[in-house]
Amino acid sequence: MTNAHKKLFIKTWGCQMNVYDSNRMSDILSALGYKTVDAPEGADMMILNTCHIREKATDKVFSELGRLRVHKEEKEAAGGKMIIAVAGCVAQAEGDFILERAPYVSMVFGPQTYHELPEMVIKAGGGERVINTEFPSVSKFDHLPDQHTIEGSAAYLSIQEGCDKFCTFCVVPYTRGGEYSRSAQEIMDEAHRLVDQGALEIMLLGQNVNAFHGAGKNGRAVGLAELIRNISEIKGLERVRYSTSHPRDMDDDLIRVHGEVQKLMPFLHLPVQSGSNKILEAMNRKHKTDIYLDVIAKLRKARPDIAFSSDYIIGFPGETDQDFEDSLELARTVGYASCYSFKYSARPGTPAANLQAALVPEHIASERLKRFQALINEQQAAFNKSCEGKVLPILFDRKGRKQGQLSGRSPYSQSVYVNGNERLIGNIVDVKITEAFDNSLTGDIVMADDVA
Ligand code: SAH
Ligand code: SF4
Ligand code: F3S
Repeated sequence: MTNAHKKLFIKTWGCQMNVYDSNRMSDILSALGYKTVDAPEGADMMILNTCHIREKATDKVFSELGRLRVHKEEKEAAGGKMIIAVAGCVAQAEGDFILERAPYVSMVFGPQTYHELPEMVIKAGGGERVINTEFPSVSKFDHLPDQHTIEGSAAYLSIQEGCDKFCTFCVVPYTRGGEYSRSAQEIMDEAHRLVDQGALEIMLLGQNVNAFHGAGKNGRAVGLAELIRNISEIKGLERVRYSTSHPRDMDDDLIRVHGEVQKLMPFLHLPVQSGSNKILEAMNRKHKTDIYLDVIAKLRKARPDIAFSSDYIIGFPGETDQDFEDSLELARTVGYASCYSFKYSARPGTPAANLQAALVPEHIASERLKRFQALINEQQAAFNKSCEGKVLPILFDRKGRKQGQLSGRSPYSQSVYVNGNERLIGNIVDVKITEAFDNSLTGDIVMADDVA
């Protein structure tokens, strides 16, 4: 006989792959009697699923641990027990250091070993401190239970992990390891299960998702284009997206799919990082701006209503005023629906961290970032404005903040708020956009008679 459910609290930072991983950890631990809760009070286990991509990542983890250990102390004072675990990319990069500095942490494990959670939990329960930051030769995907944890009607599905590209600023090849693609069959099975559980939208995930090359039938490799064609045929699935792509891996077949598959949403996140070819080379991006613009032009030709977002790093070592102007110019040329920009942050162990002499002074980098973000805010507001008066299909996935309000996502991933009945949650409904704001849209549900 098992006791009542034990409580598991997971806090997640970082990319969508970490969100996927946290859900899968919930699945694994639910088989051991843990129920995932959304507050740390009284938890029997806490997992911090961490991200190492930019500065102060490790500091953030320690300050969060400092706050959460209070709950452990309270629980122990009352005669209870709590396991605190650090997972994810900071765990991978700083494993031993975490165990050393935080004696109340019982488990530290990287993104590739969480399928071993049941063994780790038993050890930690027996008082052992566990560290597990190997890159196992067998993929975790071969050992995960079927999923139960899906968030709303839009689900994430990791199809590819890791990266072999080694951009000089980036920790991902070190924290996630080399590129690995799951098999096409395994992914199709998982996609079917997600749709059976109510997913209307699936976002295919990978650090380099368009480098995907999974084993297909008879040992033949399946690329992302073919996978999207197959997934889009699943009955009941309405929307497909994929993220994050590298410009160099946008082959013609994948571009063609954007024109062929209506379920593939007309919105693509395609990080470029800089508009200067000199900086792109120093970043080891292996693409120039002309390749990027060429891919964008081809995608627009294939799918005229497609919109783009991107990532830019501002203030990479050696970035001159002119290099920065080139980034602004590239962003103006593309015209984004939204875009992320980050001040360069030297990451320990990456090649660019040795470029100390060429560091852009902090105040200049901040000034540039501000200018870049002002341009992007303008572009985003203009894109949102261009949606006014249009009818867009909106996937409603939750209640809005205000009474009677629903919140959903447009094909371009914009947040859309309307007044409507809660039973529309989990449905895709036509909405006439009435007003655009900087970060969201509002509108009215289109009634059947409006359409007639
Ligand atoms: N695989 C994706 C990016 C993953 S990291 C790609 O190839 O584009 C997400 C974003 O974080 C990157 O696109 C980059 O813009 C930003 N980033 C990564 N390392 C960084 C660093 N050291 N400093 C600032 N931004 C960084
Ligand atoms: Fe990092 Fe570059 Fe790989 Fe993207 S492609 S994960 S930025 S190394
Ligand atoms: Fe962060 Fe690791 Fe994702 S460093 S962005 S959680 S791959």
